[in-house]
Amino acid sequence: METIKNLAYLLSAIFFIFGLKMLSSPRSARKGNLISGIGMLIAIVVTLLDKQIVDFTFIIAGLVVGSAIGAIAARRVQMTAMPQMVAIFNGFGGGASTLVALAEFMRFTSQPSPDVSVTLVLSVLIGTVTFFGSFIAFAKLQDLMKSAPIVLPFHQGINALLLLGVVVVGALFIMNPVSITELLIIAAAATLLGILLVIPIGGADMPVVISLLNSYSGLAAAMTGFVLSNNVLIISGALVGASGLILTKLMCEAMNRSLTNVLFGQVGYDASAGGPGEKRTVTRYTAEDAVMMLENANSVIIVPGYGLAVAQAQHVLAELAELLEKKGTSVKYAIHPVAGRMPGHMNVLLAEANVPYDKLYEMDAINDEFQNTDVALVVGANDVVNPAARYKKDSVLYGMPILNVDQAKTVMIIKRSLSPGFAGEDNELFYDPKTMMVFGDAKKMLTEMVHLLKEYQGS
Ligand code: TAP
Repeated sequence: METIKNLAYLLSAIFFIFGLKMLSSPRSARKGNLISGIGMLIAIVVTLLDKQIVDFTFIIAGLVVGSAIGAIAARRVQMTAMPQMVAIFNGFGGGASTLVALAEFMRFTSQPSPDVSVTLVLSVLIGTVTFFGSFIAFAKLQDLMKSAPIVLPFHQGINALLLLGVVVVGALFIMNPVSITELLIIAAAATLLGILLVIPIGGADMPVVISLLNSYSGLAAAMTGFVLSNNVLIISGALVGASGLILTKLMCEAMNRSLTNVLFGQVGYDASAGGPGEKRTVTRYTAEDAVMMLENANSVIIVPGYGLAVAQAQHVLAELAELLEKKGTSVKYAIHPVAGRMPGHMNVLLAEANVPYDKLYEMDAINDEFQNTDVALVVGANDVVNPAARYKKDSVLYGMPILNVDQAKTVMIIKRSLSPGFAGEDNELFYDPKTMMVFGDAKKMLTEMVHLLKEYQGS
């Protein structure tokens, strides 16, 4: 039985690895998700058959309630609220690791060995930090609390003291692992740590934090895997830990920031701070002006951003692109690695509208093409096209590679106002004479434009 169980766990680990690999491309992501899901199913079935942990009625009741909540949440969640949902799910993962580790400790009939005691401490620490940190991330993104950084007096000092406390109490526990009190003290300190580590981080950096917390939830699961001597939990936890860390690194690189700067830089935008002082003029263009310009363009590069997701304008945008292509215009989509609010946000959004993958170009592959392009059509994007990133040294955006839309012959920007993007940086592109500002909700404006294009094309 032990051999069969281990072989089944090995099989599910292989499914996880291949599933993860396939998630790296939008083309194979759905299949990758399915394959990882099958791996998880094998792991669950084998564990349930192998261990009589709790009565099966409890397990089935838990499965039904959990699946119902998960299915409803996943169906109801708005595309724009996806990061919050991921944050909560990470949090539950961390919380579950802590609870399982504590429950397992209470079941031990003899003293755990030092290696198990170490992983118990780590599981409770990382799991609890993940749980509370994720809920703060959720609250910031859901506007339940101030999204700008909140910094207490002696903030880092308090964190350091808490960590020191955890190390001391953890060492006491490892030397004599008999009482749960030390583990509960560690959980209490980790609660404060989770909150204090995330409140000084501004809302704009929250996707990076969520990815980091995702990595923590994997580590907590791996530690719990050691406590339970469960290989598949160790492997899957390590996979989540490593992939979360790689994603965090990629996001930091795409924003040209170090992880230390994200975690401790206290970068954030206070909406009450107000806009730029000097007054400049912008010219408002109508949907009709925009369509006339597009009608005469031979090449168009579309730059989608967060506003596209807010407006849910992906379908009508795809329709506009098809109409332009029908009359012979070359249409491509330029995807910035941190456009939107989560990795792959724009890819998922455009896939939903059935935009062919081969029309989507990553930043490096398309940036040189803007100079030979008639119209750069920016829909609900701001920071990812803000030229301040190139030269304004005191800007949060400084150093972030941007899409070179300003090199196109005409820049057309669809957004509702002149307000800045997530980073809070004013965008000079709005005032450039070659920029056409088409003010309005992206879905509304694009629908109007599609209407007009159809009229012109006589269809
Ligand atoms: P943003 O800079 O956030 O700009 C989005 C713009 O969309 C806003 O300026 C807003 O202007 C407009 N908008 C909102 N609702 C709209 C609607 N209904 N119709 C039309 N426009 C609308 O977006 P971005 O250029 O995609 O940049 C992403 C930001 O998130 C960057 O700062 C990036 O560093 C940060 N970030 C992203 C990630 C990932 S992984 N994606 C991770 C970390 C950080 P109006 O209010 O005037 O309409």
